[in-house]
Amino acid sequence: MADQKLNFNSLTIHGGQQPEPSTGAVMPPIFQTSTYAQRAPGEHQGFEYSRTQNPTRKALEDSIASLEGAPHGLAFGSGLAAIDAVLKLLKPGDEVISTNDLYGGTYRLFTKIFAHYGIGFHFVDMSDPALVRKYLNEKTKLLWVETPTNPMMNIIDIQAMSELAREVDALLVVDNTFATAYLQRPIEFGADIVMHSATKYLGGHSDLVLGSLAVKDPALAEQLYFIQNSSGAVCGPMDAFLTLRGIKTLHVRMQRHCENGRSIAHFLREHEAVEATYWPGFEDHPGYTVAQKQMKDFGGMVSFRLKGDRFEDASKVVSSLKVFTLAESLGGVESLAGHPASMTHAAIPAEERAKTGVSDGLIRLSVGIEDIRDLQSDLEQALALVG
Ligand SMILES: Cc1ncc(COP(=O)(O)O)c(C=O)c1O
Repeated sequence: MADQKLNFNSLTIHGGQQPEPSTGAVMPPIFQTSTYAQRAPGEHQGFEYSRTQNPTRKALEDSIASLEGAPHGLAFGSGLAAIDAVLKLLKPGDEVISTNDLYGGTYRLFTKIFAHYGIGFHFVDMSDPALVRKYLNEKTKLLWVETPTNPMMNIIDIQAMSELAREVDALLVVDNTFATAYLQRPIEFGADIVMHSATKYLGGHSDLVLGSLAVKDPALAEQLYFIQNSSGAVCGPMDAFLTLRGIKTLHVRMQRHCENGRSIAHFLREHEAVEATYWPGFEDHPGYTVAQKQMKDFGGMVSFRLKGDRFEDASKVVSSLKVFTLAESLGGVESLAGHPASMTHAAIPAEERAKTGVSDGLIRLSVGIEDIRDLQSDLEQALALVG
C-alpha cells in the first residue's frame, strides 16, 4: 500500500505493513528466532541473525518510519538504548546542546556516561533560540530537543532549532515521546532524527519497554543501523509485536488523552490547593503560539505545583489517589501520577532542578483514557487533604 496516500489515522494501522507473505497473517507473527536457514553460504531471504534483522522488528521499524514521515525506522530495547545509539555518532571533542529540563534518564546518560568519553554538553533554556545560539560553535554536532519538556511542559520551536542546527551543520534530534507523531511530526519542521520512548504512548498499555528512531537521511540511517547491529541493544520480537499492536490504536487513544488532559488542566488551574498548572494548551502558556504551530492538540501530560510547594503535601496527594496510580512512566491507557523531584528526575542535582521548577511540590500527571468524572473526583478527594 502506498503510505503517502494515507492519512495519519490510517497510517497507524497500515503504514509500512503488508500481510505476512507465507501465510497471509494480517498481524506479523512474533518471529521468536535467533537465526535463519541459508540455502548456501550467504544465500538467505534477507534475514541472517536476529540482532541484525528480525521480521517482527522490521514490521515495527517500517510502521514507526511511516508514522513520522521518514524513510527509515529503527527499534531498540529501550528509549535510552535508542538515545545511546544516536550519541555514538559523536566523537571526543564534539558538543551537544540540549534543554535544561530534560528527562532525568537522558541527562544521566549524557553527563554520567558520554561526558566521560570527551563529549561536551550544554543544557540551556531552548524555548529561547537566542540562548541556544550563544552556545553554537564549530564543535556543536547535535541539538537534542524534547518538546513538550518533561515535566515542565515547556515548548521548544522545532523549526527554529533546525535553522540553528543548519548554521553549524549539526544534527537536530527531537525526543517526540510526549507528543507522538499524532500531535507533532518533527521531520516536517526540519528534524533529522525523531526519537521515542515507545514504552509510553506508542506501546500505550504499560506492558513493554522499547525505543525507536525515525531517520530522514539514508546515509545517516545506515550509520545508525551499523551502531544498532554493532552495539546490539535491539528489542525482542514479542515487544516489537506489542508495540505494533499499540500503534494501531494510537490515534484513538491520543484523541481521548488530549480531551481528558484538557479537562484536568482546567480543573487543576481553578483548584484552590494548586499554585500553578503547566499545560501548553493554556493561551497564557509562554509556548502556546509555537505549540499551536507545531502540534495538532496539546496532549495528556499535565504538571502542577501545590500551594506551599512542600514535599509532605505532594507525597500525601499522590499517595491518596485511587484511580490515578502512583508510578514512574506515562502514556498508558491508565492514569498515572508521579513526583518528578524524587522519581523521574531524581538523577538531576537539586540545584539544577530548582532552576527549572522541578521543586518538591510539583506533581506530574499522565492523564489516561478513563471516564473523566472518575479522574476529577479522584483528584478532588486527594487535593482536599491539603487544601
Ligand atoms: C521523554 C523521555 N525520553 C526518554 C525516556 C527513556 O525511555 P525508556 O524508559 O524507554 O528507556 C523517557 C522515559 O521516561 C522519557 O520520558
